[in-house]
Amino acid sequence: MKSIYLVGFMGSGKTSIATYLQSRLEWPVQDTDQMIEEHYQMNIPSIFKEKGEETFREYETNILHMTKQEKTIVATGGGIIEKEMNRKWLQTNGTVVFLQTSWEEIERRLMDDVSRPIWNNKSRDKQRLLEERLPKYLEVADYVIYTDGKSVEEIASEIISKI
Ligand code: S3P
Repeated sequence: MKSIYLVGFMGSGKTSIATYLQSRLEWPVQDTDQMIEEHYQMNIPSIFKEKGEETFREYETNILHMTKQEKTIVATGGGIIEKEMNRKWLQTNGTVVFLQTSWEEIERRLMDDVSRPIWNNKSRDKQRLLEERLPKYLEVADYVIYTDGKSVEEIASEIISKI
């Protein structure tokens, strides 16, 4: 079976759902953000600060190609769908689940977040970014799961019933 790639905006719950799915499916988890940090020996805020977003996106593409394409749950970074090359790759190689979360819910969940460079960049309009990315998430998605008001368990069960 192909790996499951979880895509969605920052705060859509990709990491926590991946962890929970791991216990239900008994598949290993990979997290592209974590893999970037390990592979390039730098944390994500430092990559953005010292190398810039474009380099981060290059790293992200390289790491996407290193993910296991069978029986693995892969939590991806929210911007993985920015590059057309990545969208094509995901459509070809994975079962892609888009965790769709409303702007209001994302704002609520990330209210105290200080770890995400794009979220914490005051000059970026994050709501607009979500709107711009929406068609890209939909383009790659085999399945769309609405996450507002649902528990991690409910979302995981929905994913399992669909794949
Ligand atoms: C990003 C999302 C982050 C991380 C990086 C950039 C984005 O991952 O990859 O900060 O462009 O949306 P999460 O979606 O796990 O927060």
